[in-house]
Amino acid sequence: MTVKEIFETMDYGPAPESAIEALSWLVDQGDCFGQFIDGQFTAPGTSFDAINPATGDVLAHLTQATPEDVEAAVAAARKAQPKWEGLGGPGRAKYLYALARLLQKHARLFAVLETLDSGKPIREARDIDVPLAQRHFYYHAGLAQLIEVELPDQRALGVCGQIIPWNFPLLMLAWKVAPALAAGNTVVLKPAEQTSLTALLFADICRQAGLPRGVVNIVTGDGAVGEMIITHPGIDKIAFTGSTEVGRKIRAATAGSGKSLTLELGGKSPYIVFEDADLDSAVEGLVDAIWFNQGQVCCAGSRLLVQESVAAPFHVKLRARMDKLRVGNPLDKCTDIGALVSAEQLARVTGMVAANGTGTTHRAACDMPAAGCFYPPTLITGLTPSDPLMQEEIFGPVLVSTTFRTPAEAVQLANNSRYGLAATLWTENINTALDIAPKLATGVVWVNAANLFDAAAPFGGLRESGFGREGGREGLAAYTRPRAHAKPLAPVTAMPAGNGGPVDPIDRTPKLYIGGKQARPDGGSSQAIWSKAGALLGHAPIAGRKDVRNAVEAAQAAAGWAGTTGHLRAQILYYIAENLSARAEEFAHRIDAMTGKRHGAKEVDTAIQHLFTAAAWADKWDGRTASVPLRGMAVALKEPVGIIGAFCADEAPLLGLVTVLAPAIALGNRVVLTASEPFPLAATDFYQILDTSDVPAGVVNILTGPHADLAGPLAAHLGVDAVWSFSSTDLSAKIEHSAAGNLKRTWVNNAQAHDWHNPDLRPFLEQASEIKTVWLPYGA
Ligand code: NAI
Repeated sequence: MTVKEIFETMDYGPAPESAIEALSWLVDQGDCFGQFIDGQFTAPGTSFDAINPATGDVLAHLTQATPEDVEAAVAAARKAQPKWEGLGGPGRAKYLYALARLLQKHARLFAVLETLDSGKPIREARDIDVPLAQRHFYYHAGLAQLIEVELPDQRALGVCGQIIPWNFPLLMLAWKVAPALAAGNTVVLKPAEQTSLTALLFADICRQAGLPRGVVNIVTGDGAVGEMIITHPGIDKIAFTGSTEVGRKIRAATAGSGKSLTLELGGKSPYIVFEDADLDSAVEGLVDAIWFNQGQVCCAGSRLLVQESVAAPFHVKLRARMDKLRVGNPLDKCTDIGALVSAEQLARVTGMVAANGTGTTHRAACDMPAAGCFYPPTLITGLTPSDPLMQEEIFGPVLVSTTFRTPAEAVQLANNSRYGLAATLWTENINTALDIAPKLATGVVWVNAANLFDAAAPFGGLRESGFGREGGREGLAAYTRPRAHAKPLAPVTAMPAGNGGPVDPIDRTPKLYIGGKQARPDGGSSQAIWSKAGALLGHAPIAGRKDVRNAVEAAQAAAGWAGTTGHLRAQILYYIAENLSARAEEFAHRIDAMTGKRHGAKEVDTAIQHLFTAAAWADKWDGRTASVPLRGMAVALKEPVGIIGAFCADEAPLLGLVTVLAPAIALGNRVVLTASEPFPLAATDFYQILDTSDVPAGVVNILTGPHADLAGPLAAHLGVDAVWSFSSTDLSAKIEHSAAGNLKRTWVNNAQAHDWHNPDLRPFLEQASEIKTVWLPYGA
């Protein structure tokens, strides 16, 4: 080709990265890997192939872990854990620094091996995956250094089972391993069966860093090995990234086990382009959003929503840009789009697109390689919001598009998804950006940018995108538990039926409290509540499934509460506290009469304190600006979770209710509370306090009745965003199992006692808020 011709076509020549070092490393390992357990590789066993999806070449043979392997890995991790935690934060930090440095030293080897194994372009492996993985270890080395100051009352969970996918093999490993180790846990990690090689290279790096044996264990194999890990009783926490389908299975399989769980699942993230956006930048942003890693990204901007007035010119520009993308050899530094991870994934994407009969499909006019798992960049326009491809995650280089007219419609379309992971919005108008970002039901929002990540910025989703955050202090906290030991909670039972004794002549016939009104239970039944001395104290209604539904609907109708100011919510909480204080004696007597103890006055006093404390937090539970290596900001906002259903403590009839209610509504949540089962009358008296304290209808709804009967309906209700339980009936299995449907957050006590007089309400505030990370890059 002459220079003239080159200038005419502006074509690049290929610039392939050499694979020799990576292939030699595989040869040095004998091309055959066992498991990495207790600091050494075991002998290879029944094997499966590691395949280069760009060429179909077999790169190495991997071993399917057996139950004995998993057992040995968990045992090694368990044995190593106390000593590892005992090193202290600064002691562990040294190893994390060493791992970061070694990742840096071997950056090229990691990048090439990743590209060979996964099919991703070397430019991405080299410039994104590997540097972000290093950054994760550096950042967490720092967090380990600071952990005793930052989280003085927390300690490690123990042994963590970590299951990761194939789209960012090394980076997902770093996201999982670095915080776990920083907090003093040991790990058993399973890479995806399609992409295990960089995890095995990382095992080698652990040896080079002199990491104590058993701190990191890596077992390879398919989902069956994953199942062995999640069900293993020796594992204290499961951290999973992958499909929503498997995430749901894991939620159900671990229900009631007491294992801590974080799930980072799928997405169908909206990419919103307003008419005042810089359209050329927005097109370029889309290249990063949907064609990064062939679209195999959980937070890929896969759903284009473009304002009608600019849709036609925008699509023209977009088609022109995508036609210029280079699809081909992932090792070529000029390649934009590499191979999909496997033949199965290629078939899946091909099948989903072929099954679509609507809209107009544009396949980029790129030169396609003759063989390998390649799929062309594709744009499908003219879809309607309910079309399957607008709702289902394709996980390939396929962008679907529709239009909107007004910003309100954009928000509605963006939130019309069962997922809630990330969103991107493009506008040159700061008012539009700051108006829309908080309205998007996602865990991450990028303004005029796409797919930015950093170790300091919490990442994670809502809805069926899972729960929990990775990165930042929140990500570290998810690998810890309170230092203080909880005591087992014995079932608290109602007083036996008495002889009728002296009855309060004024029968107040308590009812349920739904939507700011007292409501009779749908089933028309109630339960007699007796004092220790055998006097009839009153009747409490028995709520059923329909009452749960009504209460959730009432809470849904009170959505405006989330938009009120912290200042206003504090005022209302102060008002509740004052009104309770005015009737303190009456409440204290009621509690004493029900429980047969003399704790009433103290309980009321602490409840008033908790109301004041929650009011104080209402305008102080701030987010923070994460210090990310970018000209710009990543602001981690704290937003209300939504509707929280809670089963209140049996043993503290008023305090248990108030301690849940106050922090939850302080942050803008609405609640559906089920009162103490044996002693419900303090809660039914409490309606009157709420009625006289300016609490808007539907913000607080209170049910009474058997916890075991109400747990299933409340936890399964799709309108509920989180379920908590402090009941003395162990509801954890039922709640966590029922919550798997829409993967709502749960916080259950596994029949462990809570110290209701502890003035620290921060654990409640944490559970009552979601982090939304809003990225705001600077620049004209
Ligand atoms: P997957 O969810 O099956 O695999 C992820 C990991 O989970 C792998 O390590 C796998 O071995 C393991 N696993 C599978 N079944 C398991 C089980 N029952 N218990 C424990 N671990 C188990 O994802 P897959 O099948 O590879 O991809 C299917 C679709 O999932 C993709 O097309 C994409 O839509 C989605 N996906 C989403 C990812 C994300 O980052 N959110 C990552 C990978 C896939």
